[in-house]
Amino acid sequence: MSIIPLPHRSVKTDNTFSLNQDAAISLPVDSPEWQRVANYLNDRLKTAAASRLSVNFDGEGDINFLQDTGLDNEEAYRIIVDSEGASIFAKTPHGAFYGVQTLLQLMPAEIFSMQKNLDFPIEIQGAEIEDMPRFTYRGLHLDVGRHFFGMADIKQFIDLMAIHKYNKFHWHLTEDQGWRIEIKQYPKLTEIGAFRKETVIGHANNRPEKYDGKPYGGFYTQQDIKEVIAYATERFITIIPEIELPGHAQAAIAAYPELGCLDDTLDVGTTWGVSENVFCPKEETFEFLENVLNEVMDLFPGEYLHIGGDECPKKQWEENAYCQALIKREGLKDEHGLQSYFIRRIEKMLNARGKRLIGWDEILEGGLAPNATVMSWRGVEGGIEAASAGHDVIMTPTSHCYLDYYQSLHPDEPLAIGGYLPLEKVYSFEPIPEALPQDKHHHVLGGQANVWTEYIPTASHLQYMTYPRAAALAEVVWSDKSQRDFYNFSQRLTGHFKRYNAYGINAAESFFEVQGTLVPENGQVRVSLQSPDPNARIHYTLDGSPPSLQSMKYAAPFIVSESSEIKAAAFEAGSSKGRIWSNTVTIHKAVGKDIMLTTQPAEKYGWGGKASIINGIYGSNEHYGDKEWLGFSGKDFEAVIDLGEETVIEKIACRFFNQNGSWIYLPKKMSVFTSNDGKTFEFAGMVDDIQTTTKVAAPHISLNAQGRYVKVAVARFGIIPENLPGASHEAWLFVGELEVH
Ligand code: ACM
Repeated sequence: MSIIPLPHRSVKTDNTFSLNQDAAISLPVDSPEWQRVANYLNDRLKTAAASRLSVNFDGEGDINFLQDTGLDNEEAYRIIVDSEGASIFAKTPHGAFYGVQTLLQLMPAEIFSMQKNLDFPIEIQGAEIEDMPRFTYRGLHLDVGRHFFGMADIKQFIDLMAIHKYNKFHWHLTEDQGWRIEIKQYPKLTEIGAFRKETVIGHANNRPEKYDGKPYGGFYTQQDIKEVIAYATERFITIIPEIELPGHAQAAIAAYPELGCLDDTLDVGTTWGVSENVFCPKEETFEFLENVLNEVMDLFPGEYLHIGGDECPKKQWEENAYCQALIKREGLKDEHGLQSYFIRRIEKMLNARGKRLIGWDEILEGGLAPNATVMSWRGVEGGIEAASAGHDVIMTPTSHCYLDYYQSLHPDEPLAIGGYLPLEKVYSFEPIPEALPQDKHHHVLGGQANVWTEYIPTASHLQYMTYPRAAALAEVVWSDKSQRDFYNFSQRLTGHFKRYNAYGINAAESFFEVQGTLVPENGQVRVSLQSPDPNARIHYTLDGSPPSLQSMKYAAPFIVSESSEIKAAAFEAGSSKGRIWSNTVTIHKAVGKDIMLTTQPAEKYGWGGKASIINGIYGSNEHYGDKEWLGFSGKDFEAVIDLGEETVIEKIACRFFNQNGSWIYLPKKMSVFTSNDGKTFEFAGMVDDIQTTTKVAAPHISLNAQGRYVKVAVARFGIIPENLPGASHEAWLFVGELEVH
């Protein structure tokens, strides 16, 4: 039935119900909340099938909503569809709304169309379903500061959330690069703060930086905000507005320089990263923030406000006499204590109006505000600490929940901030960490995926980055943990994609594409190809030519024993789907032999093990985040390969990753030595001008040597100089395939 997120219990029956145009919807109570449920269903029918159904309260409809006060979960529902009609039982209209979402997924995918694309009678699959969410907080976050999304885009974002049974929209409204919410008392926040003079081009870590010279901006009026709140309310989604403080405040300070710590004016931010320009904790700043937050609280009916709290550099506070005097006067320990003082004062303002504060996990530093809820993003540790101390938490670690990360290793993937978060990894997320004691589990309210938009300039790209990964997270936070199964999910996702297509969104198809795995096996390489799409057929070539329907058809994993350039594509109904997968196998003399590392990789970048660099398989050219790369920090690299017997050696090649923005630098020098006894080594050659204009350098050394052992020594880059990314830190060294020819 391809229902996403997977219901708690569902049984498909062999009958169907034919929904006619003259059918009726029956509601249990005539209240605005119950009307919302029928309205949503009718709006969808009107859009996709050009007709609404009548609504009555007699319990005799074809689609009957019934109140079941026996259900104990406020968001639970039960559906029975048989040849006579559909019955949806729920304790609340909120639960019934999720019943509607599931009912729509029992209809043809065209019900999700944005124009008429479906005729009555509409066939509804017969089923019996019982469902309820695992977590009460099921969130998506959207950053509208870095890029601004207009009203239609925001509504679409919210509607797609509703389809996936999300109930919390975290709206990140203020940033260094743009203040996006009208505040009546401070008009310059949007007159000045909502517009930047230009935007950095490409990745912000690129040097030299280039700018587009084009003014950019936009904001929501309070009327717009009310309209979005109403739209979300119709979908049982609560909005959690975020007003960032004390950091990420440059746009506000550009509008009102007196809020900052400098006696100077500032521009609204034009590049990405963490700005040093933060609010100064003066009384006039608190007065400003109280007035701003009061307007925000007047607008948003939800219980929670997010006040940011992350990434607040302390430099300006350290250098500011007022801040230092305040630290003394209040008996604070240091600048972290000052941040904590800042957040506590803000919390008081919210609590006084019956609202609750959420902050990013940095609000733990210097002491947590008494009633705060923590959003754990730098891992789950902050969440564990806060929950252990009795605070509520929302889990959104970068490792599994950052949808601004790459989702595919394909070289044609559009520019992203970095990282690698494929669908399967999102799906594997577990919001309750094992380390959290059982009696604290209830403090984990749920999970959230975050969409930061530095590199997401358009609505179409936003759709691409969000879906289908947000469908995977929806299942994490909604469905039973015991039923989590990626294969089963991916099969349902194939059906779910028909809904995305009907809806007309640009969901990423990397999911359909061939995913190849190369596994070393006795000095050869086993190639497995698969598409999660069960209907796909895979064709491949080994000579670098593009695959067609005439190319070899993939049936089962095969062994490659010679160097090959493999290309594979998925085909459905005679045409290729998504992009071509390609990879190289390089069978050289060290493949399948022993290697000993004198220095060890960092734990988090050593997952492939030492053999991964002599297995004939290259790491990705675009990302160091796969198990074919070993990452070293603060150490040179040295390894000895045992070729098993005396061998003629003509060439040694190695691959090094190059991504200075991630503090990964090419090494200074690579030297090679050979030996027959593994004890006495003779120098055989070196290269000391390792360079590339791409992300991978592949230097080689030609030699004329013989030996059983080869030692390769690589001298690291060292401390990163001023004016380069990561200045004054040790550079990372990423080592890939070490070839012996
Ligand atoms: C964050 O990603 N800075 C919360």
